[in-house]
Amino acid sequence: MTEWQKSGWRAKPRVQMPDYTDQAKLEAVEAQLSKYPPLVFAGEARKLKKELGAASRGEAFLLQGGDCAEAFDQFSANAIRDTFKVMLQMAMVLTFGAKVPVVKVGRMAGQFAKPRSAPTEVVDGMELPSYRGDIINELAFTPEARIPDPAKMLQAYTQAAATLNLLRAFSTGGYADVHQVHQWTLGFTDREESEKYRDMANRISDTLDFMKAAGVDSDRAHTLATVDFYTSHESLLLEYEEALTRQDSTSGKWLAGSGHMIWIGDRTRQPDGAHVEFARGVLNPVGLKCGPTTTAEDLKVLMSKLNPENEAGKLTLIARFGAGKVGEHLPRLIKAVAEEGANVTWVCDPMHGNTIKSSTGYKTRPFDLVLREVREFFGIHNAEGTVPGGVHFEMTGQDVTECTGGVRAVSEENLSDRYHTACDPRLNASQSLELAFLVAEELTSRREAQLAAKAG
Ligand code: PEP
Ligand code: CO
Repeated sequence: MTEWQKSGWRAKPRVQMPDYTDQAKLEAVEAQLSKYPPLVFAGEARKLKKELGAASRGEAFLLQGGDCAEAFDQFSANAIRDTFKVMLQMAMVLTFGAKVPVVKVGRMAGQFAKPRSAPTEVVDGMELPSYRGDIINELAFTPEARIPDPAKMLQAYTQAAATLNLLRAFSTGGYADVHQVHQWTLGFTDREESEKYRDMANRISDTLDFMKAAGVDSDRAHTLATVDFYTSHESLLLEYEEALTRQDSTSGKWLAGSGHMIWIGDRTRQPDGAHVEFARGVLNPVGLKCGPTTTAEDLKVLMSKLNPENEAGKLTLIARFGAGKVGEHLPRLIKAVAEEGANVTWVCDPMHGNTIKSSTGYKTRPFDLVLREVREFFGIHNAEGTVPGGVHFEMTGQDVTECTGGVRAVSEENLSDRYHTACDPRLNASQSLELAFLVAEELTSRREAQLAAKAG
């Protein structure tokens, strides 16, 4: 393979990227971004890689979640805080079930660019280019709004930097201290879920009191008072990614400075395409979405390109087949991984294979299908003797009505009440917590089965 360069993707076929009309403006923006500081540092990306390696062996569990698409007009401290809160709650629930550390990764601080199923959209007989995320064009349905504007990359960078700044403050400034476990609840969470959470939080508080009384609190105080919270996004807009790529002075390797982890979407994973070319050269952990059309042959090529040294934690395979289809696809890809002896971390995205159009015209996801795909994912891994290493969700701390179902049921008629997503439907805080309890149950029964097998 030829020596990797951060601009090497430009010589490869590209899909899902905008054709900027103003070349001079594009180049000026790229030049400017290239001078800005990276958002993350190499040591952090390496630490995350190590933690994902632990997840690949069942010694940790990944919780990755956040918006489908971050939006400029929904940018606020409260929105960031609430999503962070829900993720802390979910992480607590999962830690309780899994009895292993939960690796927390937001779809945040960079999740702006969107692949689309069609290049254009027709509304009332008018056809316009599709909306591709706030970093590229605007959601408003007018010809001007849909023109890709390179300057939006600068606004996305600014928003990402401010988001990450707040996340770092929350993570280490006392907000995420486990002693605050009762404070992370959001007012509108369903009663049943809140009670379940409160019971668990009480048990955690009791344990903390006990530890303090027994004198084990003080030397562990720092570990309990702060969390590591990482950022991730789909590495889709390669001009932005390249401009934020930096050489790590200690190792000489290249860092995608736009976020700790990047992933390649299901529509841009062509083995000889631009997106794979870019991702193969960076030291960050990389995710690869695997859908029903992922072939074993492609997966083998992708694994050798994206993880040439077969490092643990380097490559996360994010399975998104859709409920009812996991049994048809996951075993054949698990087999391909085994045939290569490849190190991968298997993660379940139960969102993207379960998107439907409701009778009321909204893009939605039935919560039952989301739950079902998670169960199928665990079932297959248990049967194959492989490790379910984590989950990947589209969720928000806001009280939205975008996915149907859940304990506090959202009906098709309710969807219009608070449907705010700029792209795909997200789980609200109640649904997210409900899902976390389900995943925790799966993890608990898996652990119990393993212990029983060991004992027997
Ligand atoms: C996404 O994660 O928002 C996405 C578009 O996913 P996929 O590539 O799996 O369709
Ligand atoms: Co999405």
